[in-house]
Formats: sequence, C-alpha cells, structure tokens
Amino acid sequence: MQKHIYNPNPEFSKNAAIPSMEAYWELQNRALEDYEGFWQGFADEKIDWLAPYDTVLDESDAPFYKWFTKGKLNVSNQCIDRHLSDKADKTAILFEGDRGEVEKISYLQLSQRVNKMANLLKNEFGIEKGDRVVLYMPMIPEAAYAMLACTRIGAVHSIVFGGFSSAALKDRIEDAQAKIVITADGAYRKGKPYLLKGVVDEALSRGGECVEAVLVVKRNNEEIEWVEGRDHNYNALITAQSDDCPFEPMDSEDPLFLLYTSGSTGKPKGVQHSTAGYILWAQMTTEWVFDVKEDDIFWCTADVGWITGHTYIVYGPLAAGTTTVMFEGVPTYPDAGRAWKMVQDHKITQFYTAPTAIRVLHKMGKDEPENYDLSSLKVLGTVGEPIDPTAWQWYYEKVGHSKCAIVDTWWQTETGGHIITPLPGATPIKPGCATFPLPGIMTEILSYEGVPKEADEPGLLCITKPWPSMLRNIWGDPERYKKAYFGDVSKEGRPVYFSGDGAVADKEGYITIVGRVDDVINVSGHRMGTAEIEAVVKEDDAVAEVAVVGCPHEIKGESIFIYIVLKEGHINKDIKNHINALLASEIGNIAKADHIIEVPGLPKTRSGKIMRRILRSIAKGEAITQDISTLEDPSIVKEIETTAREA
Ligand code: WTA
Repeated sequence: MQKHIYNPNPEFSKNAAIPSMEAYWELQNRALEDYEGFWQGFADEKIDWLAPYDTVLDESDAPFYKWFTKGKLNVSNQCIDRHLSDKADKTAILFEGDRGEVEKISYLQLSQRVNKMANLLKNEFGIEKGDRVVLYMPMIPEAAYAMLACTRIGAVHSIVFGGFSSAALKDRIEDAQAKIVITADGAYRKGKPYLLKGVVDEALSRGGECVEAVLVVKRNNEEIEWVEGRDHNYNALITAQSDDCPFEPMDSEDPLFLLYTSGSTGKPKGVQHSTAGYILWAQMTTEWVFDVKEDDIFWCTADVGWITGHTYIVYGPLAAGTTTVMFEGVPTYPDAGRAWKMVQDHKITQFYTAPTAIRVLHKMGKDEPENYDLSSLKVLGTVGEPIDPTAWQWYYEKVGHSKCAIVDTWWQTETGGHIITPLPGATPIKPGCATFPLPGIMTEILSYEGVPKEADEPGLLCITKPWPSMLRNIWGDPERYKKAYFGDVSKEGRPVYFSGDGAVADKEGYITIVGRVDDVINVSGHRMGTAEIEAVVKEDDAVAEVAVVGCPHEIKGESIFIYIVLKEGHINKDIKNHINALLASEIGNIAKADHIIEVPGLPKTRSGKIMRRILRSIAKGEAITQDISTLEDPSIVKEIETTAREA
C-alpha cells in the first residue's frame, strides 16, 4: 500500500539547519566523495580543540577505529565553559520536580556546580583521570552535574538505570571496577518519596569491594541507613568546595563513559564511548535532527540511565548551548495532561519521547492535549522502538497540530547518536519509517553474505563505514566487541558493523526498521537479552529448561513470554510468582514476564537447538508455518500450542 507522505512545514524549512532534500544530498554526497574531509570540516567547526588532531580516521587496527587522534579537548568545556562568554545567564537545565517545583539552572550556575563536584571527587575522594565512577541516580540535576564533573577530571562514568536491582548494580560496579558510587537517598515519584540508597547498600553487601566510597545526594531526606566511613553526604561536603576546577585536557580517544546494555548472549556489555567522536555527533545531531535554535526549550523525556538520556538530555543539548528540560516525575501524574501542561508552562519547542509513552498518553487521555496550549512545539521525536500508525497519527494531529515533523530516530546505545531519521525541515515523512541515514552515515541492508538487498526485501541493517560516535570497545572484552558487532556480516571481505536489527528499504530508499533479528527483546523501549533472562530463570530449582521470547503488546510494544519445563517430580504451584520475584531481584522490575507457561518440553532440532521461531509464533498466537518434521519430537509443538492457548 502506498503510504501517505507528510511534507515538511514550509515555514519551518525556511530557517532549518538542513532545509531541503537537496541540502541533504549535497551533504551526503560530500561525505561519499571525501569521507574524511567531510568529518574534518565538522570537527574543526564544532569542537573547541585544546590541541589539534593529526589524523581524522585511523583504520589501521580495524575494527578498533580511532578518530581525530592526538587531538585534545574536554567535554565539560564543550558543554559549559565555552558558552560562558555569551550564555552565562541563559538557562542550561530547566528542572521540574515530580511535585511541580521548577528550578532554572543557568550556564554559569551549572559551571559552578560542576566545578565544585569535580573538586569534591578529586580532592575528597582522590578520583583521577581514567577512574570509573558509577552513578545510580534519580532524575535530578545532580545526575547531570556528576556526569559533567567526571568528564571535567577525565573520570569515566557508568550510569546504572535506577530501575535495575541491587544484583544488576553489583555486577556493573564489579565489571567496571568502580572506585566510587554516586547516588541519592531517593527522589519523588507520583507525589510520594521513594528510596534508592538501600539498593546501593544491598549491592555492596553482596560484593563490589572495589568501591571505596558512596556519595549520597540528599533529595528527599527520608530515613536511610548510613555506613560510617564509606558513605558521604554530598549536600554537606559540596559547600566547602571551590567553584574553580581546571578541566583535564583529554585525548580524543580517551573513554568518556561506559553504558551497559544487553546483547543476544551472556551478560550485559559495557559499551565504551570515546571523547571527541561522541561529543561531536551528539552536538551535530541535536542541531540537525531537532533543529535547536537560540531560544528553544528542548525536552527529552528519557531517563539519564539510558543512552537517550546521555546524548539528548545532557551532552547533545548542552554542547549545542540550548536549554534542556529534566523532569523527575512521570508524564501521567497527577493526570494524563502533565506532559502537555509542561509543554505549555515552559513553552517547549522540541519534545522527544518513546512510542510506549505516546501509547500510554493516548490511551489515558486522548483529548487531553486539547486542554493545553501546545503552539510552542516545533519538532516531535520518537525513539527506542517502532511506532504504530495509530500512535503516530495521534501524536502528529493532536500533539503537533499537523504542523510539526515527527522525527522517528533509529539508533542504539552503540551508535552514540542518531543514525537513521527524518530531518524536520527536509524529509518528506512516511509514518513508521525511519527514512534515511543522516549525512555522513553509510547504512546498507545486507544479507549474511554481505550482498545488498533489493528494494522491499528485508535484510540486516548494517553500517558499512566507521562513524565518529560509534562505540570503541566493550569494556575489558575486545574479543566480544569484534564478535558481537563485526562477526556476522562482511562485505567484500571486510567485516562491517551489524546492528542486530532487520530493516527494509522501499523503492525510494525509505528505510523501515523491522525489529531485532537476534535474541534481544524490546519492552517499552528497554533492551533485554533473552539469554540473560533465561540464566536467571534457571536459578529456580524446579526449572529444568527455559526459553524466553518476545510477544507483541498493545502498550509496551513487546512483552516477555517465558516457556518453562519443570524438573521431574517438581510441582510448584507458585512458580510464576517465584520466577517474577527472581527476575525483579536479579535484573529489575522491567524484566518481569507477562506470560510464564509450563510446557512438557521445548521444540528442538535433533542436535538439541531450541527452535525459538516456533516459540515466537506460538506466543503471538500465529499458525505454525515452518517445517517441523526435522524436530526431535514434532508432536511437542501441538502440546505447547494447546497449553499456550489455555493459559
Ligand atoms: C530499537 C535506544 C524502531 C532497535 C536509542 C535498536 C528502534 C534498539 C528505534 C536500541 C526506532 C531504536 N524504530 N526501533 N526509531 N530506535 N530502536 O540501545 O531495535 O536502548 O537496536 O538505544 O532499539 O536500543 P538502545
């Protein structure tokens, strides 16, 4: 079916950073003709270099690519100091608390607070360049101060999303060998205080011997446990710090941060990002894709614990010198108009969120946007999962009043910033389509043999040239880096980056993301490895075998569906609750399953491989079309189908 095309708003295009498809192609052709020259031009224009680089792209140790080698810079300078001459009084961070209080933090205040925190880390805790700092923080400005303070002194932060359990936190602390954990007593959600620090206590009681200190921001002053000698009160210590902490000149390739994410096998991987390449692309994509202008108020609703929060709450907007909104609460409290009220109150110009949030807001308050003045909005964005036509249409018409482009941005923790997305002033949009790669990004849809797919033929979404903001490594595991990202697809004898996603391009080159083709599932935009979930379920004594698949879900996009085979002689009436409790404690509440069904066996090939495709079809309630005659026991499929239907 021919999809309706939504052309950019001509009024908007007039002043857009990339105002037309001609301008897009002009840039992309420049990159095609002279790839390094293209990136050199932007690196020179955008980055405040402290010392020049000597090579744009060093491919000598591929796939361990290096960008802008020998260059020196500092990300906190790029995000703060260099703006002070003309933006000292401009709001850098606009914070709104769960209970509605608003704090506007100017670039000058941000500078003072980041400098103080950098001094605190350096002088009180001996944190040095290269040390790892784990953040387990709520959505409060101190999270951003801590990130920027780390970059100022060259420490490497690793943020662990506040929804992860103590066991998941402990694993990440240990893998990174962090010296300090920065956390808060708690924060507010839905009008009530909640606690966070206890999770850190529990994580450190289970291990994490590398941690010498815990720095606690007092947010809600609830009663918390205190370990003398280990725990330190941020609010008390910060006042005595000087607000002058010279920034460390960092090498372009020095690690900037780690962020753990799930893969198709084993434990979560510590995705390692670099300094220069990352910040360059964070800034450029904020300028191109959100088209931020001097007086804009930019709101990305993600949590700082995910890559979207890193790149589009903190680093991108601040490097671009804009005002970034940080919100502690949830968009449905006190009612489904909260987000729209915030847009109205703060005159928000760009609003960037996940399809799950759009579906929730649509479901809870279809007409709610009508009650607010949303005329300040210029660009709407989505990220993290495919957006369905109903949600897209509602977002476009009710929220954007049919005048704002929706940028459906496809990217990953590993890519650092946007990869495939419409440009709001240029791209004619087909709903549900991520459209085209950004200028400078070379994507191809390939087969496992590295052969390009024809139009309308789905294939593997690959990025065939290294790009500045790509991950550099998996922390402590270079072999896994090579295997996980460059081990599956080669083109003309050269390994290329494979994203794990399937995609299809139509005859006009519009790219639609089909979803993961590996064993990763995406629940409300959160990535989870089925292997990781299976490993936890196997800890249950009654479980002999387990297989985890994703199942379509109206709101969450996908939900977790678990098949278990019990050990002989084991009956456990409460097994479902038990497994979900285990998942909550080992990973976090986001890993709880919607469906857990007990089956007599799993469909396996004669060599013992579980046929997940069959299990996926059953979870979706689809008819089995694949050939099951080669299974060890074909009759098992019928039995599983019957059990699933009854459950
Ligand atoms: C999925 C989030 C469809 C995809 C920035 C990818 C998307 C994974 C989109 C990365 C989109 C992200 N349309 N699917 N616009 N954006 N995805 O690392 O499967 O948390 O591989 O990064 O989310 O998730 P991650």
